[in-house]
Amino acid sequence: MRAINYDDGQLTLLDQTKLPTETVYKTYESVEEVARAIEEMVVRGAPAIGITAAYGTVIGARKFVSGDFKVYMQKVIKRLWHTRPTAVNLHWALERMEQIITDDVDDSIQLLEQEARLIEAEDTDINLAIGNTLKHLVQDKTAFLIHCNPGRLATSDYGTATAPFYLAHEAGVKFKVYSDETRPRLQGALTAYELSDAGIDVTVITDSTAATLMQQGKITAVFVGCDRVAANGDVVNKIGTLPLAIAAQYYGVPFYVAAPTPTFDLKVANGADIPIEERHASEVTHLAGQSLTSVQSVYNPAFDVTPHELITALATEHGLIEASQEAIEELFRKGER
Ligand code: MRU
Repeated sequence: MRAINYDDGQLTLLDQTKLPTETVYKTYESVEEVARAIEEMVVRGAPAIGITAAYGTVIGARKFVSGDFKVYMQKVIKRLWHTRPTAVNLHWALERMEQIITDDVDDSIQLLEQEARLIEAEDTDINLAIGNTLKHLVQDKTAFLIHCNPGRLATSDYGTATAPFYLAHEAGVKFKVYSDETRPRLQGALTAYELSDAGIDVTVITDSTAATLMQQGKITAVFVGCDRVAANGDVVNKIGTLPLAIAAQYYGVPFYVAAPTPTFDLKVANGADIPIEERHASEVTHLAGQSLTSVQSVYNPAFDVTPHELITALATEHGLIEASQEAIEELFRKGER
């Protein structure tokens, strides 16, 4: 199951808005189409958005006809940059792509393609390393709570917070995962879909059931992904992460955030400075085309901020670190990013 496939100028995305009922792949041939696929969440998840945008710049470069190539590419990058505001992987990947553009069009196309492939390959390595960082916690008879979809569908492969599950499952460990459905867009159903497809024991719960499972002592640890980590260790992730972290602290359940280094943003001091995307009211008022309420006044932030004090550890590709300014500075001082 791969969310993104690129081959010789052809970008194919698995349409996540149709899963799990329909498996539809579509090929994207222009920057505008790629940008819309990100906005409409055909492709979603912080690393996957970054990878898709990287391939979007390649598609843009290949479409260049005449004029100033660098100016043209600035416009391509600008269009992709403004598709979604919160996951910093998007901007991180576009900055990487931007740096290698020269006036030589053919050369640039080749280098951009190489760079996009590298970003994708590095993502898989990062996820495997995060999986290895956390997999010691996944033992026989343990059970985990996961929120949203930090999985295969949100990345190049393995997922971030799901990687330890895939690795433990491959090693024959018998454990259980509870997946929050994750209102309003139900990305938790995508997590359940991909884990069950791999043969992992997964149970879907409503978001409101999570605290009850922790109260019942059924959860070994909570694993979540993230869309941006601030310099002080505050984490922005899918809406509903904050209440999980609060409940986890209350019930003494360890709370781990799978945090690849491309998801850190050292330019923002704390979580309050991270832009939070607000999505359309219809995501809340409607479900599968059916109206759920007559009230049209809706507040629909797509992400929330979990303060660093509530986080047991950040699981990076370089190991577990404390969610603190000091530990993050130390990680990046070593030139890890
Ligand atoms: O709005 P989305 O679906 O793009 O949100 C992204 C997520 O799935 C995250 O919350 C996730 O934990 C980070 S992606 C590894």
